[in-house]
Amino acid sequence: MYNQTDLYQGKSATVNSFPASYEEWESKAEQILPAGPFGYIVGGAGSEETMRTNIKAFIYWRIKPHLPRDVSKRDLTVTLLGHNFPTPFFLAPIGLQGLANSTGELGTARAAAKLKIPFILSTVSSYPMEDVAVVMKNSPHWFQLYWPNDLDLMISFVRRAEKAGYSVIVVTIDYPAHSWKERNIRNNYNPFNIGEGMANYTSDPVFRSMLKQPPEQDRKSAISLFNQLFPNPHLTWDDISFLRKHTKLPIMVKGILNPKDAQLALQHGVDGIIVSNHGGRQVDGEIAALEALPMICDVVKGRIPVLMDSGIRRGSDVIKALALGADVVLLGRPYIYGLAVAGEKGVMQVMKNLIAEIDATMANIGRTSIAEIDFSLLEWIR
Ligand SMILES: Cc1cc2nc3c(=O)[nH]c(=O)nc-3n(C[C@H](O)[C@H](O)[C@H](O)COP(=O)(O)O)c2cc1C
Repeated sequence: MYNQTDLYQGKSATVNSFPASYEEWESKAEQILPAGPFGYIVGGAGSEETMRTNIKAFIYWRIKPHLPRDVSKRDLTVTLLGHNFPTPFFLAPIGLQGLANSTGELGTARAAAKLKIPFILSTVSSYPMEDVAVVMKNSPHWFQLYWPNDLDLMISFVRRAEKAGYSVIVVTIDYPAHSWKERNIRNNYNPFNIGEGMANYTSDPVFRSMLKQPPEQDRKSAISLFNQLFPNPHLTWDDISFLRKHTKLPIMVKGILNPKDAQLALQHGVDGIIVSNHGGRQVDGEIAALEALPMICDVVKGRIPVLMDSGIRRGSDVIKALALGADVVLLGRPYIYGLAVAGEKGVMQVMKNLIAEIDATMANIGRTSIAEIDFSLLEWIR
């Protein structure tokens, strides 16, 4: 499917002088972006211990290759909810992408569509969902729902997503309140107070009907209303049941870390679970998503897909998460650094590098398909 020589980062690095490693993408993004937006993207909750834990959790799992085997042909495709996808990673919902690059979600969507890799659009995006859907065309795109504090607005978001061709609704449940983010406080920077991430709201008829004047004429009132509607501390499983009755689209819940909540997710008829701690952005001292993953898979027992994010940086991370039971992983911050460094081309390069690294790792551990990546490949060393 992919032209391997085209993918290898060595060649790409020479041709484009793009970074090879995640760390270099991050430090290039830091050089480009102002302190406020960079701090917002890179940062996490409190002391950022959860962020560090997410990364450390991967180190204790080590890979035991099975060789020699004929690995001359390798297949990175996965099947999820009855559809085939080219890679075992999708693009995580990341809001306010206009902070990284003026093309925002449109740049990301262009890159994702070219590789047919699913892009999950955030509710708090910098461009309206319809504009992003036009760019994605027939490529898979999912809509991440931050359930607003108003039922009519929630229904409007879901109907718009359905109409625009989004094929899965991802309800994020781990954001009942803004978290304590020391970097934002230090930088005196809160993007939500300056109207970033409102595109789906200001383009919504229900939102507009709640305002005395259109947002184009009175931005301050629009920002104030937006901040009353997001985040929503009232969300419960009853709401998920309500949504289940009101959309035919598959529903995934994102932000599950506790096996008891995985059980509840099954009871409430969801179609998939995303094990995630929001990249360490919500709670300091939280369990790493990778640590929670096997416990969640134990409860789910293959009945619905389990996806995972928070800490995926390299090909070997993808392999480890798959071996611990994830069907697919989501790539987060790395592609936003690509977007910050070089817009669509940067996102494309980050994805191509990851594909090449997954492919090379599979060959070198004796695996030719994603289905062959299982727990027997891993050893836990402390
Ligand atoms: C800047 C930023 C904004 C994010 N915005 C959203 C969002 O709007 N909706 C959501 O469900 N998750 C959001 N997330 C969380 C990601 O979907 C994902 O869980 C996280 O990035 C994974 O962690 P990692 O980037 O460290 O791998 C955001 C993450 C970052 C870094």
